[in-house]
Amino acid sequence: MYTEKVMDHFQHPRNMGEIENASGVGTVGNAKCGDIMRIYLDIDENQIIRDVKFKTFGCGAAVATSSMATELVKGKNIKEAMEVTNKAVMEALDGLPPVKVHCSLLAEEAIHAALWDYAQKNGIKIEGLEKPKSDIHEGEEEEEEEY
Ligand code: FES
Repeated sequence: MYTEKVMDHFQHPRNMGEIENASGVGTVGNAKCGDIMRIYLDIDENQIIRDVKFKTFGCGAAVATSSMATELVKGKNIKEAMEVTNKAVMEALDGLPPVKVHCSLLAEEAIHAALWDYAQKNGIKIEGLEKPKSDIHEGEEEEEEEY
């Protein structure tokens, strides 16, 4: 049911872990299954993503999509990172089974949440970036979500 690329990224995830003193951190929950994803971005003074790491309490498809998404944003500038949508990630993985499409949203949303955090900390505006709906901040109670 999974493509070779999905299996590869699931079995050998790239960029798993965390970044201390990251420029931006985003944590999101998947409304459909309750799984959680956190992305850490290290962004330099030229707004280039120098490093990116992720952690997830999610399924195999979430691991694979996050792994691929981190590969796609690494080395890009923040504007280019905005173009890494869940669709782009799925294409890069040669597709996902329809029931697993929602899993790929976690990576996109977590990247956006981390970019939002970075933008807030630096007082900048990133075109097309909206305040994340489901950002969960460390130490805060997880909000009740309406499904
Ligand atoms: Fe929850 Fe895939 S089932 S992220």
